[in-house]
Amino acid sequence: MEVVIRQDATAVATFVADIIERLVSSRPGAVLGLATGSSPLGVYTELVRRHRAGTLAFGRATVFLLDEYIGLPPGHPASYRTFFEQKFSGLVDIEPGNVHVPDGAAADVDAACADYEAQIRAAGGVDLQLLGIGADGHVGFNEPTSSLASRTRVKTLTDETRNDNARFFSSVDDVPRHVVTQGIGTILEARHLVLIGLGAAKADPIARAVEGPVTSMCPASVLQLHPHATVIIDEAAATRLTLIDYYRATFAAKPPWQST
Ligand code: GLP
Repeated sequence: MEVVIRQDATAVATFVADIIERLVSSRPGAVLGLATGSSPLGVYTELVRRHRAGTLAFGRATVFLLDEYIGLPPGHPASYRTFFEQKFSGLVDIEPGNVHVPDGAAADVDAACADYEAQIRAAGGVDLQLLGIGADGHVGFNEPTSSLASRTRVKTLTDETRNDNARFFSSVDDVPRHVVTQGIGTILEARHLVLIGLGAAKADPIARAVEGPVTSMCPASVLQLHPHATVIIDEAAATRLTLIDYYRATFAAKPPWQST
């Protein structure tokens, strides 16, 4: 696992946008696993800026989102499909048909989950999966005690996550209790995992994910099992890392031939 500490959210966004630009420039048909929540917003803003500047195109890329709420009406502003269209896919040249979102409105949600897995496989798997991290260490909507082998399925949110996400709704009572999320086993099959952590509220889950035991009590700790995982955090999210000096020194001494 590589841990990269940048000064602030803007520097984190630039660093992650560089990784995505390198991938899409070398492989225009890349399959991107993208996330919602506030952590990746700066990355999307930067990618949109580069697209508008004419240096970055997504016309052949495919996107799979991590998760979606169950029970929101189509077009609800807090639905991840709507959020993603407004923040990214609707602002660049991605073909709408190449943007895949777990179907939280399907009549048969289990069948839709199996179909989502099949679509990821048919696309050749995910090249790069962008991840945020919840206060309880969740990735996607894989709450603590999620099976480390889990696939796309229905999950029930904890009260902590519903409270954290209430800012996107009129009130916490409006936050759905059920969601569809890619599983931890699904996420682990992506070829590169890139996890973003911003702000002091993420210092504890980041420390648990990076330096704690691999445990379903902190789903993000599974990044330790992945051969190519990059954790990119700002200073505020880095404060509880025991080996913080080592991560800084490793990054500073990184040979030019070694890519992220
Ligand atoms: C939600 C999303 C996750 C996200 C997490 C953290 O629960 N399902 O994908 O990583 O929130 O959100 P934020 O980035 O807003 O802190």
